[in-house]
Amino acid sequence: MEVVQVLRMNGGLGETSYANNSLVHRKVILMTKPITEEAITQVYRSVDAIANRFCIAELGCSSGPNSLVVAAELINVVHQLSRSHDRQLPEFQILLNDLPGNDFNSIFHSLLPKFRAQLNQEMGSKSTPCFVYGVPGSFYGRLFAANSLHFVHSSYSLMWLSKVPEGVEKWNKEEIYIGSRSPAPAINAYYSQFRQDFRTFLRCRLEEVVEQWC
Ligand SMILES: C[S@@+](CC[C@H](N)C(=O)[O-])C[C@H]1O[C@@H](n2cnc3c(N)ncnc32)[C@H](O)[C@@H]1O
Repeated sequence: MEVVQVLRMNGGLGETSYANNSLVHRKVILMTKPITEEAITQVYRSVDAIANRFCIAELGCSSGPNSLVVAAELINVVHQLSRSHDRQLPEFQILLNDLPGNDFNSIFHSLLPKFRAQLNQEMGSKSTPCFVYGVPGSFYGRLFAANSLHFVHSSYSLMWLSKVPEGVEKWNKEEIYIGSRSPAPAINAYYSQFRQDFRTFLRCRLEEVVEQWC
């Protein structure tokens, strides 16, 4: 069976769910926050008038508080920039992607209402429409229409390869991971699969990001 059909984080909101066991991942998002904010600021400044629609994709969103945390932060930054540049706040589209087995129901059922409440609180009367969609599928293929995304974010997800590297079981004593003591051919097999996957990922996003920023 294809890995995209079986891989998923533990759904729901229980004790063993990803939602309750993703603090390390949250830390990484916090550590990279200045880079993300700088990137969205550059995107905002690089266009004369951002279209009245601003489209953000979160790839490998999983299901938990991290799924929407970056989108909330990005909206906040665009909100502040719009105010300081005296520009109209655009409408937002948030596209949440993960593999089909991901627990999208928990996101829309439990997490989205909190996200909306927080947004309304922060924006007050300046609130703007924010449309959130689930996009199940592998980010190693096309997910979105050509020329449609303004900003793509992904954290702690691209180390998941599209498939088990070829021949790895031969060198890796049937381990399903590599470590510092793994034999060189096993490490090279993972590395080469990563290069191939990452190239595919970038090619797909190149089609999808609006032309101005390619
Ligand atoms: C460790 S979680 C990180 C989740 C979230 N970004 C965070 O920082 O908490 C990795 C996520 O990537 C997703 N993922 C892995 N391979 C993927 C693929 N090819 N396409 C889309 N999502 C993928 C997994 O299903 C999982 O939900």
